[in-house]
Amino acid sequence: MSTGHPELIAVIASEIADSGPIPFVRFMELALYHPQFGYYMRSPQERIGWRGDFYTSSDVHPILGQALAKQAEQMYRLLGQPNPFTIVEMGPGKGLLAKHILTTCAHRYPSFFEHLRYVLVDRSPAMRELQRRNLAPWLDRAALLAWVDDLANVAPQGLTGLFFSNELVDSFPVHRLQVTAKGIEELSVDYRDGKFVECLMPLSSSALVHRLRRMNADWPEGYRTEINLPASEWMKQVAQRLDRGFVLTIDYGHSQQDLYRSDRKHGTFLCYSRQSVNEDPFLRVGEQDMTAHVDFSSLAAAGEEQKLHMTGFTNQMNFLMGLGVEQMIAELEQDSPQFKAAIHLLRPNGMGTTFKVLIQHKGIRRPELDGLRYKPFFGSALTEQSAA
Ligand SMILES: C[S@@+](CC[C@H](N)C(=O)[O-])C[C@H]1O[C@@H](n2cnc3c(N)ncnc32)[C@H](O)[C@@H]1O
Repeated sequence: MSTGHPELIAVIASEIADSGPIPFVRFMELALYHPQFGYYMRSPQERIGWRGDFYTSSDVHPILGQALAKQAEQMYRLLGQPNPFTIVEMGPGKGLLAKHILTTCAHRYPSFFEHLRYVLVDRSPAMRELQRRNLAPWLDRAALLAWVDDLANVAPQGLTGLFFSNELVDSFPVHRLQVTAKGIEELSVDYRDGKFVECLMPLSSSALVHRLRRMNADWPEGYRTEINLPASEWMKQVAQRLDRGFVLTIDYGHSQQDLYRSDRKHGTFLCYSRQSVNEDPFLRVGEQDMTAHVDFSSLAAAGEEQKLHMTGFTNQMNFLMGLGVEQMIAELEQDSPQFKAAIHLLRPNGMGTTFKVLIQHKGIRRPELDGLRYKPFFGSALTEQSAA
């Protein structure tokens, strides 16, 4: 028997009974985002956080939000102090980063704060409710905060400011692929004897075929990997809404060359439940998170097609160092829990390097940003083998 949320299992099983095996990407969409029963869509007992299934940087220490506020304020000055300067945060989860950013702006950058408008985009009503709770102190400032459920509901064009996200793109549903003697096939999901089981089917979409062609995919037999098509579509939508400003994307991921190395033969798909990791999406269906590492080259290429140019690509450690995190940490008591938590975000063998930061710009020439002062990757890291 597959375990998980019983109504969700019934919905997916019934779709399979009607249409035959479904591509994995559809299974992941339903498991995470089915409107009633999906993992992110139900009223959460705690999902994100130390008592949840996984934690993110904003659970560790406010220092990332403080650094992002500093970076946003520099962007605001570079753009000529527009009023309003809009920050659109996509997939804000519990809203902790928004809370840390707004607190920092209100205290350290009062004139920037006066011009700031902050829009939160989250498809989950349950998450939007949590965000409202965490942002309660600002709810009475009508011009400051707004919520939408879909990027499509952010008016196209005309926006000046910053689109940013932390661990959004890794939560988009992915196509999973396997190379067999027949070529590249798509992992699909069937339901037999009360259990979800994997099967292989021909590629389910022409967009996927097109992407693989552009990537010149040439992997050995047995190779498994993922393709995140919604990520490129998302970047296109973002670019179309930004008139002047920046897009800042934080997530775990790699350049395309690195992500699809022939020795990464099991892919990067993982499930998170109660702070532990597994590779079985048919366990705790709808009660565990699923993710795959992000292909930053595809994001950069999708942006370029919409005149969103690459400002730079770095990792979280270098991003934070460029924004003066050393000074911020020096203000903390050495070896205090806060000190240790802040260091956790910088660890060279952990969050400091696993997490990458991509910044793109539009309507401004060659901006120099403090967060990109140190770049461990050369400028061409994302464009050596381009993809869209
Ligand atoms: C892993 S959580 C993000 C964590 C959060 N940014 C943080 O720093 O703690 C992913 C979030 O993205 C939201 N989400 C996923 N796909 C989305 C989409 N297409 N549009 C808007 N929100 C989305 C989910 O509802 C969830 O709140």
